Amino acid sequence: MSRLDRREFVAALAAVPVVASLLPGCARAQAPAFNTRPLKPAGEVPVVGIGTARLYQDPQSEADYAPLKATLVRFAELGGKVIDTAPSYGRAEEVLGKLTSELGIRDKLYLATKVGADSLDAGKGQIEQSFKNLKTDFIDLIAVHNLRDTANHLAYLRELRDAGRIGAVGVTSSFDGQYEQFAAVMEREQLDCIQIDYALDNRNAAQRILPLAQEKGIPPMINLPFGRGSLFQATQGKPLPDWAAEIGATTWAQVFLKYIISHPSKPIAIPGTDQVRYVDDNLGAARGPLTDAALRTKMEQFIDGL
Ligand SMILES: NC(=O)c1ccc[n+]([C@@H]2O[C@H](COP(=O)([O-])OP(=O)(O)OC[C@H]3O[C@@H](n4cnc5c(N)ncnc54)[C@H](OP(=O)(O)O)[C@@H]3O)[C@@H](O)[C@H]2O)c1
Repeated sequence: MSRLDRREFVAALAAVPVVASLLPGCARAQAPAFNTRPLKPAGEVPVVGIGTARLYQDPQSEADYAPLKATLVRFAELGGKVIDTAPSYGRAEEVLGKLTSELGIRDKLYLATKVGADSLDAGKGQIEQSFKNLKTDFIDLIAVHNLRDTANHLAYLRELRDAGRIGAVGVTSSFDGQYEQFAAVMEREQLDCIQIDYALDNRNAAQRILPLAQEKGIPPMINLPFGRGSLFQATQGKPLPDWAAEIGATTWAQVFLKYIISHPSKPIAIPGTDQVRYVDDNLGAARGPLTDAALRTKMEQFIDGL
């Protein structure tokens, strides 16, 4: 302790998650608060959540489950809320339900899933299975997956919302070829949330979908925020540009996420996250300064120039 004064000592301890949870509030309050945005029915939620596609699809052994469990523990401990899943992500819903119920953290989380079926009856069956898989009697959001049989499913989802079984309804896509139809649904339907693909190297949603969401006040969730890893490949081995410090970004992941959540439509990014270090990194992007228009342009020019 000879070379550390008390403040440095407490700060060092606070960096250790288990110890931080034992320290008084003043020592933990060092990280800036999360940027949040309102999302029905929860109210304000941090602008970075978790996506579960592929990564949660089929754990078998204890060794497979352990990092997923630790990820969820850390996410809840830090105050993370939104977790996105879908019936089509292998066993992801079931895995999420098992872990959140074992950990007793379901009530701390905002669970978003989807319905993706070509008939109303098939959709109804899928939704009932989602309640079972997620081991909950309330699902915060169910969205129509990739615009399959949209009008029928939305009508039924509204019935479920009116009955208090779900909290919000929405639609999702990650295909440019669906954008026109997607925008038409946004114009026509009352939606609590949309979900669309958007990333620093995949900006087409910013042409029509995100401005429309902003105009209508619909919260956009952003899937594929890292282009499923393509952004990391593009920047591999490259040092962070000086401008990253202006927004408090210390990693490439934080640069990419800050770009997304700074869009004027105030999106919530849901990066695929299956490791504690990714939780810390990605939720870190939800804190501190956001990018202004000039820096966003600089970021786009940088990535386009690689
Ligand atoms: N139509 C739809 O509704 C739709 C479509 C697509 C996705 N989604 C949703 O969107 C979510 C996100 O998409 P995604 O998971 O496919 O792709 P993504 O979020 O763009 O990329 C996830 C990958 O990025 C890497 N990563 C995550 N955090 C990192 C960090 N801090 N540092 C370095 N690498 C990091 C991991 O790769 P490694 O595992 O290789 O380390 C992870 O598998 C999905 O999980 C799903 O919930 C919805």
